[in-house]
Amino acid sequence: MLVLAIETSCDETAAAVVRDGRVVLSSVVSSQIAIHAEYGGVVPEIASRKHLEMISPVISQALREAAVALSEIEGIVVTRGPGLSGALLVGFSVAKAVAFACGIPYVGVHHIEGHIFASSLEQPLEFPFLALVVSGGHTHLYHVEGVGRYTTLGRTIDDAAGEAFDKSAKIMGLEYPGGAKIDALAQGGNAAAVHLPRPMIHDGTLKFSFSGLKTALMQHVAKHPVSIPGQAASDLCASFQLAVCDVLESKTRAALEQTGAARLVVAGGVACNSGVRSTMARLARERCIELHIPRPSLCGDNAAMLAVPGNYYLEQGLFSAPDQDVTANWEMDRIKEIFL
Ligand code: KG4
Ligand code: ZN
Repeated sequence: MLVLAIETSCDETAAAVVRDGRVVLSSVVSSQIAIHAEYGGVVPEIASRKHLEMISPVISQALREAAVALSEIEGIVVTRGPGLSGALLVGFSVAKAVAFACGIPYVGVHHIEGHIFASSLEQPLEFPFLALVVSGGHTHLYHVEGVGRYTTLGRTIDDAAGEAFDKSAKIMGLEYPGGAKIDALAQGGNAAAVHLPRPMIHDGTLKFSFSGLKTALMQHVAKHPVSIPGQAASDLCASFQLAVCDVLESKTRAALEQTGAARLVVAGGVACNSGVRSTMARLARERCIELHIPRPSLCGDNAAMLAVPGNYYLEQGLFSAPDQDVTANWEMDRIKEIFL
C-alpha cells in the first residue's frame, strides 16, 4: 500500500510517501524553529499560519521526491492529536480534503504512536516491547503489545524531559529549543561539577517529575551566573544532562523489571540526546535486551513515522470518519476512538 503521511502538530510541517508502512520513498520536514526562536517558544497562531503556507509545497515535494503521482496514493495518514489545535487542523483538513478528492480513505493517528514506531522504519520490531517516549510534550513509559495496543505504565506529573531541557536552556540564555544546545555544551563538561536533584528517582513508582530539577538549575544560575561558551556553562549542562539521564535510566530499569520486556524502544526528540542514547545502550547491554533508538532524523517530528501505524490501520479497514475533528489532548489509552 502506498500512503501519504502528513504531520502538523507543532512547529514542523512534514509530509512523507511510504510503501507498506516500511519503505520511506520520501520524507520532507519544513521546520519553523527559526521563526519561533525569536519568541523563545512556539507561538500557536504563527505556527498555524506557517503550516497553511507550507503544507501544499511540502506535500508536492514529498510526491516529487518519491516520484509518485497523487493518483497512485492509496490512503492518507495524518496526526489527529495531541498538539496545538490550530496547527493540527491544517494538516487534518488537508488530509480529509485530499482523501475526499481522490476517493481514498484517511486515518488520523496519535502523534506519539508515530514516534514509537519510527525505529521500525530502520529495522524490524517485534511485540511486546517497552517504549520510553521523551519529547517536548511527553515523558511516558508504555507497554506495547501491538499497533493500537498501548498501556501507560508511567508519565511525568509536571514538565516533560524536552520541556525541562528547553526551559533550563532558556534560563542559561540559550536560544529555543535549547535541548540540542545543552547536549553540545555538555560534551566538554564535568557532570560531577554541580549537584542537582534527581526528582522522584527512588519513590518506587514509574512517575517522572522534572520541574524541581529545572528550579534547582535556576537557583544555581542565580548564585553562579554562567557565560556561554565557558567551562562553567559546560559543567552545568553536563550535570543537568546526567541528572535527567539518571532518572530516565532508573525508571526505565524499573519498568523493564516490572514487565519483563525483552525489547526497549526509545523515541521522541530527546532520544537524539547523546547522554540518553549512551545511557540506554548501557542499560540494554546490562539487561541483555534489544534496544531500538531511531537515527536522529527519525527521532524528531516527521511524517514518515506516522505511516507505520497508519498503514496497519488502513490495511485493517480501520478508517477515520469524514466528520472527525482533531484532539489537542488525547491519551494513548483512548486510541481506539479514532475509527469509523
Ligand atoms: O519529538 P519532538 O521533535 O517534538 C515533540 O513532539 O515535542 O521533540 C522536541 C524536543 C525539544 O524539547 C528539543 O529540545 C528536544 O526534543 N531535543 C533534545 C535534543 N534534540 C532535540 N533534547 C536534548 N538533547 C538533544 N540532542
Ligand atoms: Zn513529536
